[in-house]
Amino acid sequence: MIGRDLLGIEDLDRNEIERLLDTADHMREIGEREVKKVPTLRGRTIINLFFEPSTRTRASFEIAGKRLSADVINFSPSSSSTKKGESILDTAKTLEAMDADAVIVRHEVSGVPRRIAEVLEAPVINAGDGAHEHPTQALLDCFTVRQVKGKIDGLTVTIVGDILHSRVARSNILAFRKLGAEVRVAAPPPMIPPAIEETFGVKAYTSLGEALEGADVVMALRIQNERLEGAFFPSVREYSATFGIDRAKLRYAKQDAIVMHPGPVNRGVELSHDLADHRPSVILDQVRNGVALRMAVLYLFAGRAPRAHTSFAQRAEGERRPSGGEAP
Ligand code: CP
Repeated sequence: MIGRDLLGIEDLDRNEIERLLDTADHMREIGEREVKKVPTLRGRTIINLFFEPSTRTRASFEIAGKRLSADVINFSPSSSSTKKGESILDTAKTLEAMDADAVIVRHEVSGVPRRIAEVLEAPVINAGDGAHEHPTQALLDCFTVRQVKGKIDGLTVTIVGDILHSRVARSNILAFRKLGAEVRVAAPPPMIPPAIEETFGVKAYTSLGEALEGADVVMALRIQNERLEGAFFPSVREYSATFGIDRAKLRYAKQDAIVMHPGPVNRGVELSHDLADHRPSVILDQVRNGVALRMAVLYLFAGRAPRAHTSFAQRAEGERRPSGGEAP
């Protein structure tokens, strides 16, 4: 039974992840029709509450909602009352009071979606919070691997890059492990969180060649300049020479290995220009599948019968009523 909110892969078990992927399989077919729209969420309102920039996640949640006939509202902090000092929780409660059926939250601080979920009745979907989790990215990545490879169980997935600061890495490690893959991470030592092997059941490498040996999936992560607080590696040029994925380094992986990247790509840093654009890279498949996967998320989390929202008068009446008493 899937819970009310989607805050992290940490809250999902294998059956729940597989249910989301199976539902995305059905949703993908809608995107292949001439008229890419079904009435499933007609009359429902979905609010995109993004406090941090996004291209893929925000647009694909909007397209996903519209394909299901929901009304999708994009909230922009730069032109809202947050500029006048309104708190994030007050902003979220204000938007929910307009009868939102789901609120999609991205924020640069870890834990903000969970805090918002504590005060809202509407389901909250985490669209990326700080260095914590990005659950829908991991789900669409698993969906893409399952589509291309036909399975996840038993595959070897190598994640390369800034593991320490990456919410995508954290969610993907959890998701691929829950689905039965072996997960390896590779990075310069300061970008590997301490005790990651014991905590997450992955194998950590500082040699890219060893990490890629026999890999089925190679996932490069973005170097997150906005989250780097110190000198984690000597220079971008050195990072690229040692950990940037190009065709020569890819030879260590299996012959039919695929290359993934959550985007946005720093071309020539994490990935060569050639691999950013051509097979075996599946970057645009990831983007395309993001819409189907987010349709599945909206269907499963925002598609339930709407709860009766409590009006101010009803709340006041409840407060006046003696505890356990019946309404007159
Ligand atoms: N992968 C990802 O989260 O991209 P955006 O920041 O463009 O949403």
